[in-house]
Amino acid sequence: MSKNLKGKYLEIAISNQRTAKIKDKRPNLQPVSQTETFKYTVPSSSLYPHQWLWDSCFHAIIYTRLGDHEFAKQELLSLLAGQWENGMIPHMIYWGESEKQRQNWGTEKNTSSITQPPMIAYAVETVYEETEDKDFIKKVYRDLDRYYKWLHKDRSTDSALLSIIHPWESGKDDFVPWDKVMKLHKPSKKEHEDYKLFLLDQYVKMNLNTKKFLEKDLFNVKSLLFNCIYLRNLKSMKKLGEIINKDTTYYSNTIKRVEESAKEHLYNPKLGIYTSIYNENTSIDDVDNPAVFLPLFAGLNTQEEAKELVEKVLLDTDTFWTSYPIPTISVDNDNFEPNRYWRGSSWININWFVYQGLKDYKLNKVAKKLKQKSVNMVEKSGFHEYYNSINGKGRGPSDFCWSGLIFDM
Ligand code: GLC
Repeated sequence: MSKNLKGKYLEIAISNQRTAKIKDKRPNLQPVSQTETFKYTVPSSSLYPHQWLWDSCFHAIIYTRLGDHEFAKQELLSLLAGQWENGMIPHMIYWGESEKQRQNWGTEKNTSSITQPPMIAYAVETVYEETEDKDFIKKVYRDLDRYYKWLHKDRSTDSALLSIIHPWESGKDDFVPWDKVMKLHKPSKKEHEDYKLFLLDQYVKMNLNTKKFLEKDLFNVKSLLFNCIYLRNLKSMKKLGEIINKDTTYYSNTIKRVEESAKEHLYNPKLGIYTSIYNENTSIDDVDNPAVFLPLFAGLNTQEEAKELVEKVLLDTDTFWTSYPIPTISVDNDNFEPNRYWRGSSWININWFVYQGLKDYKLNKVAKKLKQKSVNMVEKSGFHEYYNSINGKGRGPSDFCWSGLIFDM
């Protein structure tokens, strides 16, 4: 990695940092002192001028690794300031920023009404690993606990797995596997967008009643990526709880139940991999998207399975192992477009998840190669939102903060 890459990154990150005073606009009704200020980082000044859930978790991880522990903590505390009374952490907090892009979320609050992959416990664990600051865990644990219990209460139906109700909740907005769920065939960008707005409108019309919305099977997806992230984060919750001497029985039991449910419902023995399911029991039975590698991050695969998955699937140059991997849909899929948003382009956060999983399984050689390919992409094109998976050219804004995850690889 070239020396000035960190300097370049810090310049971008600092210019994307924001300070909000609670009096500007209070995102939720939590008791906070009037004078309190919150700091967070917008994913990109031009395109994403608000706070997003999993982005902030990634930012906190990056700041931790770059040594700015204070900002890492601030980033997570400001996320928690947006938490709803029921425990939900919204995927977007508007703070006092421009509300131009604001949708109708069906709430008076200054936030969205849906969530995103629940990475916050993992981010807190990362901060702790580096700082050993138990007081920070004590400060946030109750709110984290409320969030993970809300996820279970609001989103699990017949098993311990969670359903998401909107592509935006998946974090992978235009992901090809969702086409099946939405009954769209090779949708244009506009068709995809219209359908997403339709879904939100339906949810709002149902007064944000999740159970009612899920029963309609409009978008009822047990996303593999979301559930793997949930499982990994439940493990973080258990660990954090143990560090501050909490009773963690709930987390031990839930981890066990989620693991069992994933094996029962998400594992596809014919294909020998895990996949997402929708409408409770229909498998998205394809090996063609990189979520299939997320069970590594969750610790769901056996060592044998992991080795096979990596050798046969990840390293296949006709599908995933392009010059600038990992494409968000495999090269041999009909829908593959190397430039398109979540439909064949490569994203650093996906690479980071796979990298962490590879390290956990001690598949260090492949992890090292993936890191090198990810760094090459950033060195060639800068800190973009995503990249063309064939030629590595940057796509989307060029001040995109989570691409700094290469510093945690
Ligand atoms: C896009 C991405 C989502 C991200 C957001 C802000 O909507 O799909 O994952 O959180 O931008 O960066």
